Amino acid sequence: MPYTLLSDIGAIGRDLLEGSIMAGTYGGKRASPLPPGTADFYSDGKSIPPREMREAALDAPLGDEQEEGDPTTARLVDRVAELLGKEDALFLPAATMANELAVAVHCRRGDEIICERSSHIVNFEAGGPGLLAGVQTQMLDGENGMFGPEQVVAALRPKGNLYIPESAMVAVEQTANMGGGAVWPLRQMRAVARVAAEAGVATHLDGARLMNAVVKTGVSAKEYSDGYDSVTLCFSKGLGSPFGAALAGSEEFIVRAARLRQIIGGGLRQSGFMAALCLYALDHNVERLADDHRRAAQIASFLEGLAWVDTVLPADTNIVIFDISQDGPTAAEVVSELLLRGFAVGAFGERRIRIVTHLGVDQDDTDRLCAELKVLLSPY
Ligand SMILES: Cc1ncc(COP(=O)(O)O)c(C=O)c1O
Repeated sequence: MPYTLLSDIGAIGRDLLEGSIMAGTYGGKRASPLPPGTADFYSDGKSIPPREMREAALDAPLGDEQEEGDPTTARLVDRVAELLGKEDALFLPAATMANELAVAVHCRRGDEIICERSSHIVNFEAGGPGLLAGVQTQMLDGENGMFGPEQVVAALRPKGNLYIPESAMVAVEQTANMGGGAVWPLRQMRAVARVAAEAGVATHLDGARLMNAVVKTGVSAKEYSDGYDSVTLCFSKGLGSPFGAALAGSEEFIVRAARLRQIIGGGLRQSGFMAALCLYALDHNVERLADDHRRAAQIASFLEGLAWVDTVLPADTNIVIFDISQDGPTAAEVVSELLLRGFAVGAFGERRIRIVTHLGVDQDDTDRLCAELKVLLSPY
């Protein structure tokens, strides 16, 4: 059953204000580290790079990326461009910057972008599209973070009207984070891209977790990216790098994005040191995403059997989102209890919990988490 996005997003705001969202990384407050040994299921951005990954950075050939270029970064962006079937790519610190540069390149001030209501661009990029690109956002109510071409058609603005903002970009998120890591069907993504292209509107794919979709379905990253003018790929989620994202698109698009990156202080120097970590992630951590998916599916099906669990979103990939019934404890109470027992998960609403699997949590952590969830979410 699709969840009611409007009230959820309101709840996210409330929980942020009340400080009940884990794990101390929000609200401008100084973060406090989790107790040592905590199994951190809060996000797939939480994995700690193993020694072999760190070592990959030590001998990477380096240069100045802003001037004559950095050879290891060049190797990474060539590989990403090839992977996504685009002319060029740009190395960036984070997927947020990739999304924001895409908005700023595709749009003029006063334009409008079309995004799903629960999307990262709308909820977790601190109002960047308004601040950096001067655009406003029209939000679509999708199902588990996904929407259809007919919704885009209905949202597109007529061109050339004195009063009406112009639609400039449609963004989709593959996988849809707050939709429970939902995988957009290829056909649906293509239909959305087609109606946007017909209207002369740019398309952006926020593929922060695109490789999760690739591993889940066997559809290639290139196929998913086909028809999208720009694509974000993130190395610091399930791929396990401590740093890095890429933005891919046409040569002309990347030239403009690189200039904007420079303006906002994202220009890099010997970035091969970090690009080497991302190359390591691509070489070693793609296939293993299947383990994360299996563990998320295990947690989701376990939750289905618990008395105080209402709705569990389909766990397509590595994210489990579920609601606790009115008889049970609040999400904040479950988060606190779990923390005392050595597990971090996120509260994203009064009764909504998000659990994310990644290479920093293993099968034993997963089994132990399920056992604790049973204690907390059953009346006996
Ligand atoms: C769908 C999506 N896009 C973008 C981002 C931003 O990633 P970063 O932390 O690299 O800025 C996230 C982070 O969780 C995400 O879930």
